[in-house]
Amino acid sequence: MRLSVEGVSVRFAGISALSSLSLAVAAGERLGVVGPNGAGKTTLLNVVTGLVRPVAGAIRLDGHTLTGLPPDAVARAGVARTFQTPRLFSRLTVAQNVRAGRPLDAEPWLRLVGLLPRRGDLAAALTPGEARRLELARALAGSPHVLLLDEPCGGLGPTETEDIAALLDRAVAPATIMVVVEHKLRVISRLCARVAVLHLGEKIFDGPPTALRADRRVLEAYLGKSRAS
Ligand SMILES: Nc1ncnc2c1ncn2[C@@H]1O[C@H](COP(=O)(O)OP(=O)(O)O)[C@@H](O)[C@H]1O
Ligand SMILES: [Mg+2]
Repeated sequence: MRLSVEGVSVRFAGISALSSLSLAVAAGERLGVVGPNGAGKTTLLNVVTGLVRPVAGAIRLDGHTLTGLPPDAVARAGVARTFQTPRLFSRLTVAQNVRAGRPLDAEPWLRLVGLLPRRGDLAAALTPGEARRLELARALAGSPHVLLLDEPCGGLGPTETEDIAALLDRAVAPATIMVVVEHKLRVISRLCARVAVLHLGEKIFDGPPTALRADRRVLEAYLGKSRAS
């Protein structure tokens, strides 16, 4: 398995959200994605999952072209995701949220994320950390080839962040391609041997997390200097 993003550009009303972005992730690889707000991280996940269409470029999974497919077809191809703000069905139960209309047994997945005792509760009753874990259970339940996570620890305190990081470390199948957008570098460093940095829709770094802090372009991006300066 190999996910490749090849020269993908996305524009919104004149804004270039992604500019000719290329990125390949192999089976079993866990790629971290970081970058200042507005860098294009969520757009990258949205274009891979078919929520937005690129104006140029291609997205392929093992040679199958995903570009232009609607989100349900991308999901059927084995791509699962979570959202920056969890998207749960608040009036459905925890177990119903995991099934999401699919004929599968929710219980093993709820056990995996520690939510089995909450299976009959409404999703609306969950804490933010539990909501993150439920979204993760729903994504994992399809046994995806590719798992895309948009700030899985966003808005969580240190204990819940640690719980999610530990969960990702043990619960994601070894062959899964995992792409995790996350501001918390400790989480990225723990999970990922490789990190890509986006800035203004371009990839400005792709390498080991240990090399991040010494990279001039990364430092400039985080200090807020524009490309023109
Ligand atoms: N649906 C949209 N409509 C218009 N502009 C958008 C939309 N989604 C993202 N953008 C713009 O694209 C750029 C990248 O956004 P985003 O991918 O959300 O960044 P990040 O996730 O890195 O914070 C930003 O300038 C943002 O305002
Ligand atoms: Mg985002």
